[in-house]
Amino acid sequence: MLCVTDLEVKYGDFQALWGVSLEVREGEVVCLLGPNGAGKSTLISAVSGLVKPSKGSVEFCGERIDTLPTHQIVTRGLSQVMEQRRLFPYLTVEKNLLLGSYQARARAQRAESLKWVFELFPMLEERRNQMANSLSGGEQQMVALARGLMSRPKFLMVDEPFLGLAPIIVQKILDIIKKINAAGVTVLFIEQNVQLALGVSHRGYLLESGRMVAAGASRQLLESDMVRKVYLGI
Ligand SMILES: Nc1ncnc2c1ncn2[C@@H]1O[C@H](COP(=O)(O)OP(=O)(O)OP(=O)(O)O)[C@@H](O)[C@H]1O
Ligand SMILES: [Mg+2]
Repeated sequence: MLCVTDLEVKYGDFQALWGVSLEVREGEVVCLLGPNGAGKSTLISAVSGLVKPSKGSVEFCGERIDTLPTHQIVTRGLSQVMEQRRLFPYLTVEKNLLLGSYQARARAQRAESLKWVFELFPMLEERRNQMANSLSGGEQQMVALARGLMSRPKFLMVDEPFLGLAPIIVQKILDIIKKINAAGVTVLFIEQNVQLALGVSHRGYLLESGRMVAAGASRQLLESDMVRKVYLGI
């Protein structure tokens, strides 16, 4: 479904990604791991067209998209939930959600999409008229995920959905990601907790200092010497 090949991204003189390749197949949950500053957010932003690569290519469903503007990438069924949630604090939960379906195709399905995300996140229906800034961190993360789904993506990329959340909320969000995937949405998510991420994904990629240093089935990565030594300390 997604095929990133030899991607390079530069911010001025600073090169953030060096010859990075990554693939996601339809129906998978894939995690992108790596320490702070590794280039994880840069990579998914390059996929969604928010930053332009200086080299390499991005294909989505067999079509080259790295030359397209973001809004055209979104209409092809790709959605990105940014790190730090980026909600509109002084809009209600429902208005934040509706902003996720501004594209013509998604707009036509708005009512149905809202019903779908309220089924996935019943709490959001109860809070639909509350200001986004009055919600807890975990609830705001749910709004961000739900808003990402309002464009009815085939492929959802989520940047650090668990950051700063209590274990019980982490578990809730993990369950929702599984449900989203079971509903037919392919998922690529970023996470720094290796054990957590590899526990829920089919495959994983490990990025360090802008280079892909490991990739494989999640179970194999969890058992690999490098991951065990460097990331799990065992
Ligand atoms: N807009 C920008 N301008 C200049 N440098 C940037 C910009 N965005 C990111 N960088 C740099 O690129 C590198 C990769 O950043 P990126 O945000 O992709 O890392 P990350 O893996 O997502 O890190 P984190 O886990 O902290 O979110 C970092 O060194 C960062 O300082
Ligand atoms: Mg990041």
